[in-house]
Amino acid sequence: MGANGFVAGSVLAQAGEGWQIHAVSRGVASARRDQFCWHACDPLVPAQLTQLFQTVKPAAVIHTAALADIDFCQAHPELARAVNVDLTRTLANLCGDFGARLVFCSTDTVFDGEHAPYDEAAQPGPINTYAETKVEAEQIVARLGAQSVIARLSLVVGLPVLGTGNSFLARMIASFADGRPVGATEREVRTPVDVLTVGRALLELAAGDQAGLFHLAGCDRLNRFEIAQQIAARFGYSPYLVVAQPVAAVPGRAARPRDVSLHNAKAVAQLKTPMRTLDEGLSLILKMSQTPAS
Ligand SMILES: NC(=O)c1ccc[n+]([C@@H]2O[C@H](COP(=O)([O-])OP(=O)(O)OC[C@H]3O[C@@H](n4cnc5c(N)ncnc54)[C@H](OP(=O)(O)O)[C@@H]3O)[C@@H](O)[C@H]2O)c1
Repeated sequence: MGANGFVAGSVLAQAGEGWQIHAVSRGVASARRDQFCWHACDPLVPAQLTQLFQTVKPAAVIHTAALADIDFCQAHPELARAVNVDLTRTLANLCGDFGARLVFCSTDTVFDGEHAPYDEAAQPGPINTYAETKVEAEQIVARLGAQSVIARLSLVVGLPVLGTGNSFLARMIASFADGRPVGATEREVRTPVDVLTVGRALLELAAGDQAGLFHLAGCDRLNRFEIAQQIAARFGYSPYLVVAQPVAAVPGRAARPRDVSLHNAKAVAQLKTPMRTLDEGLSLILKMSQTPAS
């Protein structure tokens, strides 16, 4: 679900033999692949999803569709609710009716940012509309019980594998390549995770029998300035292209939590997919970007 998105592209690209994948999207496939069947529909129309479930009878659904732009959600709360909450409710109901597992992508920003690092037992405390909709969606998914997983993703770093979507790394590299400086704040702290690891972990959760909350997060606790500097270094650009920027310098920005570092100990203990440092994640991304697409 949300198949043309950034995270979905990693899932689709890494689902190998043994998977029968049905990609669901509002649009046409941005990359041709023999390994999956593409379904174009409007996911906000419940009847279309019901028909799809009747046709496909999925064993598991990986739900990556969302309005994930924090500032856009703040400015358009009704649309944010329709996509992030109502669509999730429709999918949860259908998964319940059809006996399918549901793996739902949530976010580190469900937390208030004042009590990091957060493990899976920590209480959410959303401070913007996007996070509020995600918390509400988590509560809906949790009611499915053993049939569902809520995967809270940290800041996801990567280049689009298939599709396009929301890749800040692609925008950052484009700026570096043009010699344009990139502003990054030292005030926001995250545990960045690479998109390839996220895709693999979501597939593992879809195929497995785990239930409940999982924090899919990297092993490093870094602020955005440090993240940008590591990226510049690994991609061969000058660290002077990264400029420390106060949060207030960006007008019209919704409130961001200060430090939403996640503990990844549960994922490390229970998943075969290794959680990585940012440097290890960037190595995977660089390797992928140098490998010609098959
Ligand atoms: N990227 C991150 O750093 C990050 C961090 C934490 C959590 N997450 C969560 O991880 C999930 C995937 O994120 P992502 O980075 O892959 O986001 P993305 O690239 O923006 O992809 C989200 C997808 O959702 C679908 N979508 C968007 N607007 C929609 C609408 N109005 N109606 C129906 N579907 C719509 C689109 O899929 P189609 O165009 O194929 O329909 C879109 O490609 C989301 O749940 C997000 O909240 C992401």
